[in-house]
Amino acid sequence: MSLEEEIRRLKEERNAVLLAHNYEVDEVQDIADYVGDSLYLSRQAMQTDRTVIVFAGVRFMAETAKILNPTKTVLLPDLGAGCSLSDAITAEQLRAWKSEHPGAVVVSYVNTSAEVKAESDYCCTSSNAVRVVRAIPADREILFLPDMFLGEYVRAQTGRTARTMHLWPADCHVHGRIRPEGIARLRAEHPGAPLIAHPECGCASEALPQVDQVLSTDGMVRFAKETHAPEVLVATEIGILHRMRQINPTTRFTPVDVGAVCPFMKKTDLAKVRDALKLNRYVIDVRPDVAERARRALERMVAS
Ligand code: 13P
Ligand code: SF4
Repeated sequence: MSLEEEIRRLKEERNAVLLAHNYEVDEVQDIADYVGDSLYLSRQAMQTDRTVIVFAGVRFMAETAKILNPTKTVLLPDLGAGCSLSDAITAEQLRAWKSEHPGAVVVSYVNTSAEVKAESDYCCTSSNAVRVVRAIPADREILFLPDMFLGEYVRAQTGRTARTMHLWPADCHVHGRIRPEGIARLRAEHPGAPLIAHPECGCASEALPQVDQVLSTDGMVRFAKETHAPEVLVATEIGILHRMRQINPTTRFTPVDVGAVCPFMKKTDLAKVRDALKLNRYVIDVRPDVAERARRALERMVAS
């Protein structure tokens, strides 16, 4: 029996759903029940009637699934699938930052630990960060964390300034390296090709005039589906190209940076998904008091 067949059989036996992020390796995406961005997968995790959720993604995504659906068993096939961005701020650091800005509203990107979410008023993803910040009264100070490039982009879109919206100084090591200089060179080499970028990119706000659209990973997939352009330049982790090429074989999707590979998203392979189902590993749990406090911020995120 092939690994794929074994996974399909085990999924039925265990009454499990397999969720995969757009950056996962091709074969894991191909066997998943749902593939998408952080917001879409959070919503799927919340809605599923299956008893087991296997999360082919990174740890903060599996934690989010557990918090939103505490009665389910949530499995992360490789415990090494972390996220360097979510490690960039601890709950203790956030508490210290909050004490410097009493009364500020805390908006945390979903790429954070459960403990950081528990200290937050709102969570957001790349697809709704602008909407979440717009919903906060203009006279309220905001602490936005942990991604400064996403934060700069949100500031630019909402008309906020450094005085009313403070940013935590961290970035994703995969996206932060995509800089405006590289974008300018590539645009010159591929005249006429539209360029779409994830807001975590180091170019998302600085090189904004050169970027046609700033989109979450699912936003990019939708763009890929609808475009008639012969070529599109894609500034994000290269795992997404698989879905783009599947849904639109006539357009050429060119990565802006072939080295933009998230080592954490590549930890999960088919054998690990099979073992997760077979051996019930690795179970993701969140301390109930932490989950209770984090849920409020996450429910606001899935509602926006
Ligand atoms: P999306 O929510 O756009 O899929 O982004 C998640 C992520 O980790 C990007 O690095
Ligand atoms: Fe984290 Fe960056 Fe990987 Fe996304 S691409 S999971 S932000 S390290």
